[in-house]
Amino acid sequence: MSDKLYIFDTTLRDGEQVPGCQLNTLEKIEVAKALDELGVDIIEAGFPISSPGDFNSIVEISKVITRPIICALTRAMEKDIDVAADALHFARNKRIHTGIGTSWYHINHKFNSTQDDILQRAAACVKYARKYVEDVEFYAEDAGRTENEYLARVVEAAIAAGATVVNIPDTTGYCTPDEYGGKIRFLMENVKNIHKAVISTHCHNDLGMATANTMSAILNGARQAEATINGIGERAGNTALEEVVMAIKSRKDMPVRTDINTQRIYRTSRLVSTLMRMPVQPNKAVVGRNAFAHSSGIHQDGVLKNRESYEIMDPAEVGINESSIVLTARSGRHALSHHLERLGYKLSPEELDDAYNKFLKLADRKKDISDEDLRVIVGVGQTEMKRRVKLKYLQVVCGKSSIPMATVQLNIDGEICTATSSGSGPVDASFNAIRQLIHRKVTLEEYLVQVVTRGSNDIGKVHVQVENQGNTYYGFSANTDVVTASAEAFIDAISKIV
Ligand code: KIV
Ligand code: ZN
Repeated sequence: MSDKLYIFDTTLRDGEQVPGCQLNTLEKIEVAKALDELGVDIIEAGFPISSPGDFNSIVEISKVITRPIICALTRAMEKDIDVAADALHFARNKRIHTGIGTSWYHINHKFNSTQDDILQRAAACVKYARKYVEDVEFYAEDAGRTENEYLARVVEAAIAAGATVVNIPDTTGYCTPDEYGGKIRFLMENVKNIHKAVISTHCHNDLGMATANTMSAILNGARQAEATINGIGERAGNTALEEVVMAIKSRKDMPVRTDINTQRIYRTSRLVSTLMRMPVQPNKAVVGRNAFAHSSGIHQDGVLKNRESYEIMDPAEVGINESSIVLTARSGRHALSHHLERLGYKLSPEELDDAYNKFLKLADRKKDISDEDLRVIVGVGQTEMKRRVKLKYLQVVCGKSSIPMATVQLNIDGEICTATSSGSGPVDASFNAIRQLIHRKVTLEEYLVQVVTRGSNDIGKVHVQVENQGNTYYGFSANTDVVTASAEAFIDAISKIV
């Protein structure tokens, strides 16, 4: 049996059925291009009879994407198949995916029919689709709840009618891994023409077992896995493509391989999430924000000594190039120096001490410390250490209906001095108090505050430009407290005069 596992992506069909996640044609083309670059074998681009938008998207995707097979879904109806064939007209490699419900629920309630009639219709739709294309995939909807003997008869009839792939969907996400894997094994052992087709898995995640069921099916002989990026799909979603691919890649004992370029997983995940306006949960396997984030000191130390102590895959393998060591208030010096070295900073032990103290203060106020924060800490720390004037203490009183007042204490060449002043606002009051202590005429020429990243707990960067006796001096600082950052930046500029 071949060791190639075909990856059938249905993000644009089953994934797109999620309410509120609909894409327009241009967005679908963008996703299809990303899937092509990711290396999927088949792109299910839509259900063409369902809407003119779906039809049109399949037409346009077929024109642009030439390597993977472009697949269109139909019901077991001739008019659906006619429309699908039409939509796939421009596709270089094309497949029609047709089928019918086979479980007791579908036969009795949906079709009000009999098992024999459904078996006939299954064979007939495959035969009809084969008039248009060589590659026909048959699905037995709700196969997960269809008894194995009847399912085997339907699958045999579909293959005899020309199906090249037989899809065994666990439509309701009801199966357990043993049961679903057993179903695939039963088909492998009891369908006499099974060697003429590839068995495909199609799992839903209603009980959180979609990936486990898919893996179990693969171990029992399935050689195509249907999945979506980020596991999106109706209700609890479909099997997550990235989970199956990385389970196969990370483990050394899998009987299959895929042609997925795993380094494109992360960016494809972000693209789908953004276009579909569907956030990825932080603890989502493989692509969640925290999937590789080690925040406890013990884990960080272990990962730094040997990544494999706590990681089964390298984040770079899925295209995440940031460090997996997240800096938080619980991180040690080892983790901090690792990050600083990664950013190109080699600090002396004293500089590292200073940076670590600053880092701890910042981490107390801010949950995650970013690379930008570190650059600021080091940059500010290195200039502050060299300064002759240092801010020791700052207290500001301000607010509605009160006069802003600031008390400042400076260390000027080792001498401590204090002043209090009012101003038009907290920054002005602080600057006035500083002016009293340095005994120079300093004019503020420019004052600029920038918020570095996202939230209100983020660092503010302050740039100031002052004038003294015809010369201009520039100062910079950053802090989560913009008034402190402003005073530090002002002092930074003044130090250059003093
Ligand atoms: O879940 C399912 O049964 C499906 C089929 C239409 C393939 O999506
Ligand atoms: Zn489905």
